[in-house]
Amino acid sequence: MSEIIRWSPTLGVGVEKIDEQHRELFATINRLIKIIPEKKGKADVLKLLNELLAYATNHFSSEQEYLGEHPDFVEHLYQHLEFEKKIITLKEKIILGQEDIALACHKVLIFLLSWLQNHILHHDVRDFAALGK
Ligand SMILES: [Fe+2]
Repeated sequence: MSEIIRWSPTLGVGVEKIDEQHRELFATINRLIKIIPEKKGKADVLKLLNELLAYATNHFSSEQEYLGEHPDFVEHLYQHLEFEKKIITLKEKIILGQEDIALACHKVLIFLLSWLQNHILHHDVRDFAALGK
């Protein structure tokens, strides 16, 4: 699949396992960009959100294993919880028919793109660097 957005070494945190998980997120975002014009139905979008949640649970627990001793760990953990809350809330709204599917896809995309910029680039890179990783 062609990549619209690409992981770059500037986003590297110095731990290959974490970088690989971040690349997975890029792949998911590229899939999302691809399915938006296809106007997928509720089931497909919910499937993607479920995959995103499963990814988040696994990835965040990996990061937290490394960052537990970091002085800003609580702030970092809070952001991870906010990520999960955001996706869960959107998922619930879709299930209850309170959110337009196309709009939901755009909201997730905007949220994930801002996550790359604000969380991975700033918090992950900075916090791992502080650990000497
Ligand atoms: Fe993180």
